[in-house]
Amino acid sequence: MSHIEYRHLSVTYRRPKTDEAFLAIDRISLAVERGSFVAVVGSSGCGKSTLLLAAAGLVAPASGSVAIGGAPVSGPGTEAAARSAMVFQDASLLPWRTVLGNVRFGLEMRRWSRDDLTERALRYIHMVGLADFADYHPHQLSGGMRQRVNIARALAVEPEVLLMDEPFGALDAQTREVMGNELLRLWERDRKTALFVTHDIDEAIFLADKVVVMGRDPGCIKDVLTVDLPRPRTPDVLDSAAFVALRRRLRESLAEDMAALRLVTEVA
Ligand SMILES: Nc1ncnc2c1ncn2[C@@H]1O[C@H](COP(=O)(O)OP(=O)(O)O)[C@@H](O)[C@H]1O
Ligand SMILES: [Mg+2]
Repeated sequence: MSHIEYRHLSVTYRRPKTDEAFLAIDRISLAVERGSFVAVVGSSGCGKSTLLLAAAGLVAPASGSVAIGGAPVSGPGTEAAARSAMVFQDASLLPWRTVLGNVRFGLEMRRWSRDDLTERALRYIHMVGLADFADYHPHQLSGGMRQRVNIARALAVEPEVLLMDEPFGALDAQTREVMGNELLRLWERDRKTALFVTHDIDEAIFLADKVVVMGRDPGCIKDVLTVDLPRPRTPDVLDSAAFVALRRRLRESLAEDMAALRLVTEVA
């Protein structure tokens, strides 16, 4: 059985001014295997974040369902929702808490027993390379370091599933590459099921076993690429013929959507 299972999931939102309901994602079905790394790409507004939020129980299905480990995710407090942890693009850290305090916070929220909170938090802070910064505050850290704290906070609750919504989106290209490498090393240790949104094609291929290409209006799945590059992967793989071929295929898949979008703008 797959670990995350989207079944004909549709989500609707209301337009801010008119209050008119619209379909953000339309009958998406997707099965994510346990221990696999799945990247999600697609143009802005196609529903990538919505897809992740639904798995975390933070948006409710209009129809269809999401299940984790066979249990339906039906709200943020449900057991199935507690099986995942989310990492957002903007380091959503509490500015008045230290690195340790922020990682501990994730555990406090999940009502972990008090005794080993600090020890556990420190273990994950160490794992993301911030052992020397445990008593720093977020404003004293670089963007990359803040995202490491976010990742440590998510890992510390020891979720079955990691949901990452453009976690490196706000970082410069170089830091982004370093972080991608680090994430891969962490992931290769215990292979948590991962759903990772990015707009960076190379990042998607480099990290993932599968790349899901979403289309828009309404959000849907257009294509799924299997990335059969050997692991562990190192940045050398970016120059391999197999990587270049996948990159071309992914570009084409995304370009169709862009072309459709241009057409709409031209006609309008
Ligand atoms: N809370 C919300 N209320 C109303 N509309 C929303 C809300 N969240 C997202 N949307 C809209 O739903 C669509 C999909 O959004 P989102 O999932 O954030 O896309 P992506 O992450 O791919 O950019 C977009 O048109 C967006 O403007
Ligand atoms: Mg988004």
